[in-house]
Amino acid sequence: MRRPLIIGNWKMNTNISDAVVLATVIRDGVEDISNVEIVICPPAIWLTEVSEIIHKNIGHLGLGAQNIHYLTDGSYTGEVSATMVRDVAKYVIIGHSERRNSFAETNGIVARKVAAALDAGLVPIVCVGEKKKSEKSAVEIVKQLKESLVGINKNELEQIVVAYEPVWAVGADEPATPEYSAQIINQLRAIVSPQTPIIYGGDVSSGNIYSFMQRPEIDGVLVGRESLNGQNFIKLCRIVAEYKKII
Ligand code: 13P
Repeated sequence: MRRPLIIGNWKMNTNISDAVVLATVIRDGVEDISNVEIVICPPAIWLTEVSEIIHKNIGHLGLGAQNIHYLTDGSYTGEVSATMVRDVAKYVIIGHSERRNSFAETNGIVARKVAAALDAGLVPIVCVGEKKKSEKSAVEIVKQLKESLVGINKNELEQIVVAYEPVWAVGADEPATPEYSAQIINQLRAIVSPQTPIIYGGDVSSGNIYSFMQRPEIDGVLVGRESLNGQNFIKLCRIVAEYKKII
């Protein structure tokens, strides 16, 4: 059975003291929650500090980076490699729409990053999603995921997480409906392994998480803004644990 997964993407937010406080509040607040895996993804510069706070990925609270380079080392000013990240974190977000759109990351680059993450023993969280909702969306997203996973073998597919994030819902005031998301996720399911968690992201909050968790196709969520509010994020994790246990 796939374990429910809640991932908090802090993006380029927090200063060092915010990061310490937020990570501590989350660590203490989710201590007693079982049956789910919770991952927080702070900016790269706070990873080491946060890994100390959450005891280096012990138990059901893990740590993730927001990006990596696909090479292991070299003259790439400003970049961080998978082999560097693996010393402090277990997960890495790859191909987020903000990286695809603002940093020209193509499916080809994403595929190289996914391979680099797997080689280093990291769990890649591979993001896909359409820019605009249309009748062709499902076809577009399936193509995007296939191209983002070129060269990844069957066994490796069991070690990845896929995040479906419609670009139009990211940072917006309205999420995709759970029914629509489940429909897209069903199509993505055919590309990966039955063990691969597929999660939804885009305006998820402690107020609307219930409806997503009622869909068995949706294994969890990738949360942006709401993950910056410790109490709301904890509430969200509790709701996921509660709902996924019942259904
Ligand atoms: P919001 O939850 O702020 O819409 O962001 C979603 C996201 O991009 C998570 O990676």
